Amino acid sequence: MIVTIDGPAGSGKSTVARQVAERLGFVYLDTGAIYRCLGYLALKLGVDMEDGEALGRIARGMKVEFADGGKRVLLNGEDVSSAIRTEEVGMAASKVSRHPQVREALLGLQRSFGRFNLVAEGRDMGTVVFPGAEVKVFLTASSEVRAQRRHRELLERGIRVSFEEVLKSVLERDRQDSQREVAPLAPAKDAVVIDTSDLTVEEVVDKIEALVKAWKKKHTSSS
Ligand code: C5P
Repeated sequence: MIVTIDGPAGSGKSTVARQVAERLGFVYLDTGAIYRCLGYLALKLGVDMEDGEALGRIARGMKVEFADGGKRVLLNGEDVSSAIRTEEVGMAASKVSRHPQVREALLGLQRSFGRFNLVAEGRDMGTVVFPGAEVKVFLTASSEVRAQRRHRELLERGIRVSFEEVLKSVLERDRQDSQREVAPLAPAKDAVVIDTSDLTVEEVVDKIEALVKAWKKKHTSSS
């Protein structure tokens, strides 16, 4: 069974997806981390962010592994769990991810997780990577709320940035992610949209768990 959770930066995806996976005993897949690994490599190697061919080649050659239930990320054997969480790498991820060569190169890796009972989090999980997923969720929240969440998260990690900078970066990333030609950020037609602005993490997790239970009930009673 596959549950997809898509949405913009700061919509609460990661926290929610992780907890949903834990409750259900499913594998958790953070596809943003994969794009962040490529953004990180591109910055490190000084690759032109407009060069889709070169970025596609790097994407095909890189090895991304998850450890500790998705908490640790290894890129070509190096632990990059913290290094990929900066705003700079987030922005690079957003730039590299708009190239079709990159998206194509990373499709196989993402789909290989479909052999598990899975909670997959990203931007195009329900639309492109797992269009046949049993339960699809799209999380939203106002840009102010999302920027506040990102800001708090960054401060907690010891990264000092102003709220205005984070808001600007959130808006810029939204624009890039929703206006790109391939796999733009948008809810799948059959996704349930949840606005998390005024909800606690637990309330959102409860709602998704209820959707999964409803799906299971429907499909066990009719078979
Ligand atoms: O979710 P996260 O903020 O870690 O994602 C970083 C960037 O990676 C996003 O802004 C988006 O451009 C890209 N991304 C994507 N498709 C996904 C997941 C992330 O394009 N499935």
